[in-house]
Amino acid sequence: MRTHVVDHPLVAHKLTHLRDENTDSPTFRRLADELVTLLAYEATRDVRVTAHEIRTPVSPTTGVSLATPKPLVVPILRAGLGMLDGMMRLLPTAEVGFLGMIRNEETLEASTYAERLPDDLSGRQCYVLDPMLATGGTLAAAIKFLTDRGADHITAICLLAAPEGCARLEQDLEGLDVPVTVVTAAMDERLNDKGYIVPGLGDAGDRLYGVA
Ligand code: URA
Repeated sequence: MRTHVVDHPLVAHKLTHLRDENTDSPTFRRLADELVTLLAYEATRDVRVTAHEIRTPVSPTTGVSLATPKPLVVPILRAGLGMLDGMMRLLPTAEVGFLGMIRNEETLEASTYAERLPDDLSGRQCYVLDPMLATGGTLAAAIKFLTDRGADHITAICLLAAPEGCARLEQDLEGLDVPVTVVTAAMDERLNDKGYIVPGLGDAGDRLYGVA
């Protein structure tokens, strides 16, 4: 697994205001949307394209277009939905599949409670949207779900990540024969005893949607 922390002053600026507890939900949603678009630019460096000929008004030339099958964008419900528009701005022709993951508070294992995805993901590049890579259990389960269906290239876009979550992903995905990259705006210090990222930004879903 590869982790890419995007180092850019605009990313740091938007993240700072996302973190600020005084930022209200409408502003939080707008900033998250803009930040995802910046992260998406980095996250799509490996998106597959095919070369083809076109004609400019002046001469023939060779260009590229997104390859088929088209990439699949997979927001993890609920908070991943707040990242969808920012991603689709850069990949408007991508397909979108939805994955709802829930954590059993006794076993702490993540499982799928809702999914709307193609049955066969063979040869698909998947972009998973999950704002907070905290314990890593949900993201690891989501990635396994997609690779079990045949996805052969996974990029997770997270607003924030914790070292514990990255370590868990490494461990859970060991031996997986599919490249996995995590693109994030920052690697924070740690998780607290409630599983929140420190310093973090609080509960991403609550801050996006204003309800618990
Ligand atoms: N999920 C969140 O929304 N925030 C955290 O800090 C950790 C998990």
